[in-house]
Amino acid sequence: MLACAGVVLDGIVDAIPRFENREKVTVGTLHGQVAIITGGTRGIGRATAELFAAQGATLALCARSQEALDEAAKQISGAHGIKVFGRSADILDATAMADFVKQVTDRYGRVDVLVNNAGGSEQRQAAGSRQQVYAVDPLGGSPLPPGRFEEMGDEEFLNAFRQKVLALTVTMRAVLPWMKRQKNGSIINVVSMKGKQPPPRVVSSSVAAAAAMNLSKALSFEVAEYNVRVNVVALESIVTSQTEKSRQRWAPDKSMEEFLAPRNVHIPMHRLGQPEEVAHAIYCLAAPLGAYITGQVLCVDGGGLRSW
Ligand SMILES: NC(=O)c1ccc[n+]([C@@H]2O[C@H](COP(=O)([O-])OP(=O)(O)OC[C@H]3O[C@@H](n4cnc5c(N)ncnc54)[C@H](OP(=O)(O)O)[C@@H]3O)[C@@H](O)[C@H]2O)c1
Repeated sequence: MLACAGVVLDGIVDAIPRFENREKVTVGTLHGQVAIITGGTRGIGRATAELFAAQGATLALCARSQEALDEAAKQISGAHGIKVFGRSADILDATAMADFVKQVTDRYGRVDVLVNNAGGSEQRQAAGSRQQVYAVDPLGGSPLPPGRFEEMGDEEFLNAFRQKVLALTVTMRAVLPWMKRQKNGSIINVVSMKGKQPPPRVVSSSVAAAAAMNLSKALSFEVAEYNVRVNVVALESIVTSQTEKSRQRWAPDKSMEEFLAPRNVHIPMHRLGQPEEVAHAIYCLAAPLGAYITGQVLCVDGGGLRSW
């Protein structure tokens, strides 16, 4: 699957827009398309919103903070001259999310791309942790106590499933009638690479991410005949605002470089990824470049996945 994605990426690398070239783009590849990005105010969602905007998409963003949405909408539309609709909605509130999608379709009359990105890195921390747990951790070095599985409550599983399975389902259900009618649509679900490479003792979020991958694959079969594609971008170790929060929480006496050094050793590229690098992967799957790619999991992890 990775090899397949690699072939595609090799062929299109020159066609991938870069932020510094955006002023040269006259009509972007997403011109005329409406894209919903959940969690579009910062981190990976924000980088994706900027890249989509540079490519001419009309945007609809949600997050919990209306203030952050207003600020993001102002900055993005000011920089790229495109429309941005931002409305506060919590992905855990199914009614609010269905209402958000309805407001988008009432306003724009279509929806071509859905990026299910919202969620916090704090979900990757688990009770009993001595530090954050990563999919690239060496097997013998888990910071979680042995026997944790036996003590784990149902609520931890249910929380992970609410975040990474049910929340995705609500938005996908709401956009699919539009995409099927249009005979055009691309859904990208952003989850942790732990769904493919589960670190021991943190099974709840790993299992939820794996379920999101399975759900995306199953749905891709169902909607392919409508020219609607469903893919997953699976992440590990991307620098966002959470990275500094994690340093403050787990190693306040260390510099960022010292804090990241032990993790970098286990990432083949020996560095964390940037949100813009994830945005490029999401863009490849959203844009016409990815027109024949569906049902795939594209890992953006600096090579951290130990299998292929
Ligand atoms: N960074 C990584 O290394 C990494 C690794 C694996 C998976 N991921 C996944 O990638 C996605 C983006 O992560 P990130 O690192 O870019 O996070 P981030 O910088 O913390 O940004 C999260 C975004 O989602 C919004 N959000 C959070 N919880 C929400 C909720 N319940 N309802 C609606 N919006 C919500 C936030 O805005 P508000 O706070 O205003 O709601 C913000 O816009 C997440 O799903 C995360 O689990 C990231």
